[in-house]
Amino acid sequence: MDCTTESQNIIIDVHVSDETPTNVQLELRKGLESTPRRLPTKYLYDDRGSELFESICELPEYYQTRTERHLLNQYADQIMSLTKAEELVELGSGAATKTRVLLDAMAQANQLRFYVPFDVSEGIVRRVAQELVKEYKGLHVHGVVGDFLTHLEHIPDGGRRLVVILGGTIGNLDSQSALNFVSSIHAEMASGDFFLLGVQLETSIKRIEAAYNDSTGVTAAFNKNILNVMHEMFGATLNPDTFDHVALYNKTDHRIEMRLRSKESQCVEIPGLDFSFELEKGEDILTEISTKYDHPRAEKLLKQSGFDMIKWYSDSEELIGLALARKP
Ligand code: SAH
Ligand code: AVI
Repeated sequence: MDCTTESQNIIIDVHVSDETPTNVQLELRKGLESTPRRLPTKYLYDDRGSELFESICELPEYYQTRTERHLLNQYADQIMSLTKAEELVELGSGAATKTRVLLDAMAQANQLRFYVPFDVSEGIVRRVAQELVKEYKGLHVHGVVGDFLTHLEHIPDGGRRLVVILGGTIGNLDSQSALNFVSSIHAEMASGDFFLLGVQLETSIKRIEAAYNDSTGVTAAFNKNILNVMHEMFGATLNPDTFDHVALYNKTDHRIEMRLRSKESQCVEIPGLDFSFELEKGEDILTEISTKYDHPRAEKLLKQSGFDMIKWYSDSEELIGLALARKP
């Protein structure tokens, strides 16, 4: 572990730099050598990327956030009464905006003790921890800065736990990786703990594609920011002006694919990875997949990972699903 910081009611453990430089290099090189070339989605979220994602959540085209918030407003009390959770663990917690709805319901039921925000983006974990201890009297926040695909064992032990993933973050994984991930979450949980999984549901392609091609260009800026991250971290010669933002629905795999399409043929040098490659004009780098589920696919994922399904909540237009499950 890199470091632990403590102040009143706050502990932050930082694990992002536990990764050996070789593993980081191998992961990136493997992605960039595959077809299509890929960059790991987590690199979208430096401080600037997290800010841009917060702006995306406010966009009129991005129906997902407001719909999920609405659902949480409707069902948070019921969820807290069913789970009796005293500790909320949130994977990919980001700005924890909608989380407040769950924390409010826990506080209302007088069962709020601990919150564990787990995110790869250090700045946002620290900000959220400071905000929440001020907003909720007596709350203890134990933040974990790490990769939820490799650092799950660092979730601190707690009381009656509810683990949540919101924002459709599970959709960033393909079906096999999602199954591995949810199974590892299950393995980290105690018998009787609950899991709340938010999924984005399949709806009209027009509506989905509009959500990732907003008229103000915020999503394009979010996508291109990964190139700045690659430049800052590894010295990559990837100029955002030489790429177009592309986000198209892949019907076969039920997912949006967000790509960066090179406007010219170029030689990309990445000194920090000791790696270079030729990118042709029109060639893509895949930066994110965002899989859309339906009720049966979400339930299958949870059951195959060892959970019992307890409740399924959805809005009247069936845009978002919230699956409440329990480890038997
Ligand atoms: N839950 C919030 C944020 C969703 S955005 C919401 O519903 O609005 C996805 C979040 O997951 C970002 O904050 C990002 O930094 C985090 N994230 C993405 N990949 C991650 C990884 N591999 N490990 C940990 N956090 C990750
Ligand atoms: C967090 N994640 C699931 C968002 C999504 O909808 O795929 C990220 C995002 N990418 C572009 N817009 C929003």
